[in-house]
Amino acid sequence: MNNKPIIALDFPGEKEVFQFLSQFEEQLFVKVGMELYMQEGPDIVRKIKEQGHDIFLDLKLHDIPNTVKSAMKGLARLGVDLVNVHAAGGKNMMEGALEGLEAGTPVGKKRAAIIAVTQLTSTTEEQMRNEQRIDLPLIDAVLHYAQLTKSAGLNGVVCSVHEARAIAEVCGEDFLRVTPGIRMAGGETHDQKRIATPDGAREDGSSLIVVGRAITGAANPVAAYKEVCELWEAK
Ligand code: C5P
Repeated sequence: MNNKPIIALDFPGEKEVFQFLSQFEEQLFVKVGMELYMQEGPDIVRKIKEQGHDIFLDLKLHDIPNTVKSAMKGLARLGVDLVNVHAAGGKNMMEGALEGLEAGTPVGKKRAAIIAVTQLTSTTEEQMRNEQRIDLPLIDAVLHYAQLTKSAGLNGVVCSVHEARAIAEVCGEDFLRVTPGIRMAGGETHDQKRIATPDGAREDGSSLIVVGRAITGAANPVAAYKEVCELWEAK
């Protein structure tokens, strides 16, 4: 797994994905999420892998522990690099996910890293309080989920940039902080609420950034990707 910005391939189907990927000459780190996976199934993962790209399979599993364990066993066979679950599924579920992933990883292959979603970057503190009935400041709720995730043996969390530094302090630098909600300065925010720029993300403690529409929706996606990389890599 490399640490290039992860491009979210939020496209409706295979045709659009390969049209998009054909513009790039280098090997990328891409994210296949629900939208694409639900349309194309596991074959899309195999085909992207054949082109040599690293893959974050973002299916955010959340079910009873046994079901998640079995599902992860199947996903492990796809040879992806990073997978995830919802921390809200609980410690037993996360332990089950890890067990399934280990059991399904072919002998001699590296196990995918596994992270948990704390709170979606589209969620506000007000929504968390009113809809989930979690009566805590957002940062405390996120830190609690991060610690729970670590105690289950997972490799890190998906969080917003604004929580990344605090998570590193509590869970350690090696515990991954994968942050979506990345926008270029002055760019559109869309439905994301807790956003940051690529250089802001680096400064604020992200280990990996996920960038979707700021690249896929750009007039020139290759140029937009380069710009994101430059900002992300700038010290
Ligand atoms: O287009 P945009 O950059 O907002 O895309 C962000 C991607 O990251 C989407 O694919 C979204 O599903 C995903 N994501 C997120 N927030 C999380 C976890 C994943 O936005 N907490």
